[in-house]
Amino acid sequence: MALLEVEDLRVSFATEDGELEAVRGLSFSLDAGQTLAIVGESGSGKSVATQTMVGLTAGARISGTARFDGADLLTMRAGALRRLRGKEIGFVFQDPLTSLHPQYRVGWQLAEVLQAHGSVSSSAARARAIELLTHVGISQPDRRVDDYPHQLSGGMRQRVMIAMAMALDPRLLIADEPTTALDVTVQAQVLELMKRLQAEHGSALIIITHDLGVVADMADIVLVMYAGRAVEVADRRTLYYRSHHPYTLGLLASVPLAAGHGAGERLVPIAGAPPSLLSLPAGCSFHPRCPFVMDVCTTTRPELEPVPGGTGVAHTSACHLPAQALGPGAEATALRREAVHAGRSAGGPAEAVAGPVTDAADAALGQPA
Ligand SMILES: Nc1ncnc2c1ncn2[C@@H]1O[C@H](COP(=O)(O)OP(=O)(O)O)[C@@H](O)[C@H]1O
Ligand code: SF4
Ligand SMILES: [Mg+2]
Repeated sequence: MALLEVEDLRVSFATEDGELEAVRGLSFSLDAGQTLAIVGESGSGKSVATQTMVGLTAGARISGTARFDGADLLTMRAGALRRLRGKEIGFVFQDPLTSLHPQYRVGWQLAEVLQAHGSVSSSAARARAIELLTHVGISQPDRRVDDYPHQLSGGMRQRVMIAMAMALDPRLLIADEPTTALDVTVQAQVLELMKRLQAEHGSALIIITHDLGVVADMADIVLVMYAGRAVEVADRRTLYYRSHHPYTLGLLASVPLAAGHGAGERLVPIAGAPPSLLSLPAGCSFHPRCPFVMDVCTTTRPELEPVPGGTGVAHTSACHLPAQALGPGAEATALRREAVHAGRSAGGPAEAVAGPVTDAADAALGQPA
């Protein structure tokens, strides 16, 4: 049995402008010791999906299941979920300042976590807090333990957050953009730390990021999210070398060190912006931004389906392009171009979005996103 098994998770909010469907049928599973990266631009539903699993989206309409060790987190009583949170499931947020209390010393806050979940004397909790600070690489921990959050640098605060999340040896750690607020060197250190702790404790890790580069050598499974749905799921290698979905290809093209994109090569951001979750485009949600849009994409939403030929983690993708068109190589590019030529009729809906396939457009089609 997987440690975490999420099936058809749906989360929506009632807003002034109508029902906002933030997560639209998300499924994945994660074993102990595995790392799952959830990747997508801002607003794709990454935070809502994971926060919902641990009961942090009050007021949301929720359906589906999220079984942790067999027990459904979504229907669990609030008290039971609270006990699980922190102890079995740790959470690290993007901005430690919003999750650390400004008026309490960090050591006190760490001790609080320890004492809330077990009978630990305050001196033992303090000793353990110092030990944890040492463990996450904070120098002079016996002094830092008495600091207030504002006395620490951003990187140190993030380390404290990780220490807190790891304090009770959780079996699952969810890190939501844990390094976004940090500079690049500190980012690398914090990721390295999480990886080390994960290896030591054998815990499962979900790391959420908008930057594929961050997870380049960390994730076992990568789930690419767009507009509330998974659009591609694959193991890391497959995703980098043999991705199917144009959105994934677009994300990869905007990452400096990804496979197939040499250092110094020009980075290509994905054109346009993510759609409003209040009213998604018909058909494939990505179609207004997709260089490969075909007529069918404007009317029929592609389901997440297996891509044949993969090994290890099942490779799935939600896109109408031929399943054999994988990765940025010339052969795949030719297959895509052929499909687009056949699938974009003169004066049809895809042309209305992306224009006719001319010789010039042909060249653009050779450059995924
Ligand atoms: N409490 C809420 N009420 C209404 N809308 C929300 C709420 N929380 C998040 N959203 C909306 O849900 C969508 C997904 O948000 P989020 O999961 O934070 O995206 P991501 O983490 O991928 O950047 C966004 O459009 C956001 O505005
Ligand atoms: S080719 Fe069509 S289905 Fe595939 S991502 Fe582009 S618009 Fe969506
Ligand atoms: Mg987020």
